Amino acid sequence: MTAPEPPVRVTKLGYVSFETPDVARLTEYYTKVLGFALVEETTSQVFLTTGGDHHCITIEKAEVSRGRNVIGYEIRESLDNAQLRLKEAGLASERRTDIGPGTPDVLVIEEPLTGSALHLYEEQSRSGVDSTFDHRPNKLGHVAAYTPSPRDMRSFYEGALGFRWSDTVGDFFVFLRCNADHHAANFMQSTTMQGMHHIAYEARDLTHLQTMIDNLNKHDYRLYWGPGRHSVGHNIFTYHEDPDGNHIELFTQLDVMLDEDNGYFEPRPWHEHFPMRPTTWEADLAVMNKWGPIPDGMIKR
Ligand SMILES: [Fe+2]
Repeated sequence: MTAPEPPVRVTKLGYVSFETPDVARLTEYYTKVLGFALVEETTSQVFLTTGGDHHCITIEKAEVSRGRNVIGYEIRESLDNAQLRLKEAGLASERRTDIGPGTPDVLVIEEPLTGSALHLYEEQSRSGVDSTFDHRPNKLGHVAAYTPSPRDMRSFYEGALGFRWSDTVGDFFVFLRCNADHHAANFMQSTTMQGMHHIAYEARDLTHLQTMIDNLNKHDYRLYWGPGRHSVGHNIFTYHEDPDGNHIELFTQLDVMLDEDNGYFEPRPWHEHFPMRPTTWEADLAVMNKWGPIPDGMIKR
């Protein structure tokens, strides 16, 4: 039996919002330390990009630092059709033309369990930003969040937004993909923690990752974990904190599933299984880091 067609098919993680008490400080971190291009500033928001899309990060002022209260997803079908299909599935959405520059037409729905706003759109305006070969990340890769129920979140992301299951660690950390990349969204179970767990930016390759980390060091940012290799997704990872204390991953070599019909990730020599299919992993050290240790307190739940 085939699963019913989801009302919406997300094809890309487009953008993530940050709220901060110090907009100038976080903007300087994104432009100087990570090399993002500043595309546009309004009275309330700063828009930053890594490439052709108008933005992949927005920053706005707030009393308290917060990440991922808004997530923008690009979808395959028309917004008219998506709105209709969401309604048929019993999901309320609001069509908005006033969200801001870069996204003139957006469907807004509420993410269950977190209350974050999901913006669904067909296409962003172009940024007009020239490409570079310096320390700017290749793209926004994924954003991870806490949820009281990874199972319910998976069910919503698969059933409503067309994501596919990639992996689970124990019963507490689920990884979901919306295109070939192993994950664009991942959710860790917690009843005490809320909000964003970490956000991740992709390097083209190891040399690019080194350039990014050397640039962190030039600006006095130090890694608190990595480089290492995760088993889940098999990306080479590094983690540091931005000036607000948000957890930032810079990574490369994430698994890709090029053929959904085959159902396995492209073979790599560091894989534990051949073929490497979506798996439920035991929560042990080697799953979190194949190469070395995990810092104390790294997994807060
Ligand atoms: Fe990650």
